[in-house]
Amino acid sequence: MALEIFPIFLFVWGTLGETVDYTSNLVFDPLFYVQTNYDLQLHHLTSPSAARTHWLDYGIDEGRQACGSFHSKQYIERYPDIKIAFGATGYREAIGHFIRFQASEARLGYKEGGLDGRWTISNGNGLYLSASERMAGAVDSLVWNHKEFINAYDHGRELQMAINTDTFGECYNPTEAGGRDDGNTMGTKSRSQWVHVAGNVLQSEVLPSYWLRAESTQSHSSGGNCTRGSPALNTNDYYHYPMSKRVTIGCGGMQNCIEFISNFTIGGRWPEGFGYMQMESPTGYLAGDFTEKYSFNPETNQMIPYANNPHLPVALATTDGNYAMGAYAPGEQDTDVPMTYWAINFPSGQWNAATNKWNIVFRKHRQEDPGPHSFVYRAYFCVGTLSDVRTCLATLHGNGETLPVG
Ligand SMILES: *[C@@H]1O[C@H](CO)[C@@H](O)[C@H](O)[C@H]1NC(C)=O
Ligand SMILES: *[C@@H]1O[C@H](CO)[C@@H](O)[C@H](O)[C@H]1NC(C)=O
Repeated sequence: MALEIFPIFLFVWGTLGETVDYTSNLVFDPLFYVQTNYDLQLHHLTSPSAARTHWLDYGIDEGRQACGSFHSKQYIERYPDIKIAFGATGYREAIGHFIRFQASEARLGYKEGGLDGRWTISNGNGLYLSASERMAGAVDSLVWNHKEFINAYDHGRELQMAINTDTFGECYNPTEAGGRDDGNTMGTKSRSQWVHVAGNVLQSEVLPSYWLRAESTQSHSSGGNCTRGSPALNTNDYYHYPMSKRVTIGCGGMQNCIEFISNFTIGGRWPEGFGYMQMESPTGYLAGDFTEKYSFNPETNQMIPYANNPHLPVALATTDGNYAMGAYAPGEQDTDVPMTYWAINFPSGQWNAATNKWNIVFRKHRQEDPGPHSFVYRAYFCVGTLSDVRTCLATLHGNGETLPVG
């Protein structure tokens, strides 16, 4: 903490007359801006440039957060010297200070412990992960090399946990971040119990919302017993048993490896007539430009074009391979059906609605007694360039993290 006070330089640079690029990727990401400031949808920010214009004209002075790794308000609250110099609402000056000095002063752009419904952790070296109150503590932002990776267009995306069954799909679907109809609100029907952040570890617990609110109907087919017009099978808006998680940046000796431990508690009476519960633990919905799908071949330690083989770890990457995320879950976990990986593209003409998904799914047979039963799963995901992700997956594999037999 002693290093957090830097009183000396504050008044000097303001006199230099240098222009500040307020749209620097240190402080602004158009995708993060529109998805986190949900109310801006009302302003029809239909392109990254419209988002940029809104940020410059209003967002900066309103103290809005415009990227996952920096928030002017949190920066001011974190560093007393910044607050003294610029005042509690000196957002514009705080942004200028961060852009100019973050590299030399090694300051962090967010408040440790969270503020105003957002909680951020980092590895102190360019990888940031955060969760929000609007998403009930689900991870809705990951920044690496100044780029937002996560699509948080609605409450069914993010990087999160969910449960459904082989036949009832979204008609009975406890979802960490919230439900379908939360998409056009500032809140969520999921009931966040707590979120704790410290250093590189984020933990949370939630009573998840069902994807469909009680007494609503499904809009498309998602399983044999859940088609267009099927009713929600839940009689409440949220599930009475918790999901919890512990997310740690840094694993297997690597800074770009993230460990995700999920704990699903399942209880009560589930609908009759399905074979198994499917636990996404977790799933990641990435930004629209992560269109390239790969599989990891554990025999050669190479990435190969997506093999549609559910037993091979998957990765999604941008076309230039400069940004990628790969998923890996060790074998020998408590699953009744072999664990699977999946990757799928969801294109859209709307710039912030297109997304690309990976998931890791464990399955347990129908539990005959109402429980509750808890199921705990370990997964990893690797972030970086496609080449970094390959190395990370190969290292996890080489560290003796056995793959499920497939
Ligand atoms: C679910 O679908 C199966 C197969 O179509 C059917 O046999 C079963 O009765 C359905 N269950 C319910 C509760 O609708
Ligand atoms: C999983 O969650 C349940 C319910 O909160 C709790 O009782 C159990 O101790 C948790 N298990 C682990 C390994 O954290």
